[in-house]
Amino acid sequence: LRRPFAVSECESKSFSFTYRIVGEGTKELSLMKKGDTTSVLAPLGNTYKLPGKGTEAVIVGGGCGTPSLCLLAKTLKEKNITVHTVVAAREACSLLESATLKKYSDTITFSTDDGSKGYKGNAVDAVRDIVLPKAGDKIEFFACGPYPMLKGLAALADDLEIKAQVSLEEKMACGFGACMGCAVKIKADNDDGYVYKRVCHEGPVFSSDELVWE
Ligand code: FES
Repeated sequence: LRRPFAVSECESKSFSFTYRIVGEGTKELSLMKKGDTTSVLAPLGNTYKLPGKGTEAVIVGGGCGTPSLCLLAKTLKEKNITVHTVVAAREACSLLESATLKKYSDTITFSTDDGSKGYKGNAVDAVRDIVLPKAGDKIEFFACGPYPMLKGLAALADDLEIKAQVSLEEKMACGFGACMGCAVKIKADNDDGYVYKRVCHEGPVFSSDELVWE
């Protein structure tokens, strides 16, 4: 099976992605040498919708989800949108410090669960305690990271009536909408209260208030 990765940088004739070695597939990938080739199916899925003028962006990356926000930060800055970034991880050695994210962020906050670097707490705490006090009145969240982080951010967004777009990470078998292996529940006005949408095809970015958080 293929492995799903988010694009982290893009040049005119190349793109890059960042991954963690977690199993046989990513281990094999890490052993590839310059000149080796592999088959890639890309690009897939949708993108974040950019906010309107006057809205500040709060982008939140957790763990391996962080590099996927680099292109978003760059695009937002090119549109003259203020970018507040939070990069979070369990501990300092897992914190992904991206030069691109630093370059395109007006403010950047690092947080670790154990306090070994930056703010001690999770990403959602860092947004609430560090970023919101210095951000403007009109903001929108953009996030990619582990499910509990996205769920916590969605709850905060809901409490404060802030729009949030989240990019979901799911295992994918086909990548082009055929197998339904990556389906997630989306709220719907039917007997079940939900329908399924595919992270690889209709996603990976969804509005946080349309998702059924489990
Ligand atoms: Fe097959 Fe999404 S991975 S439908």
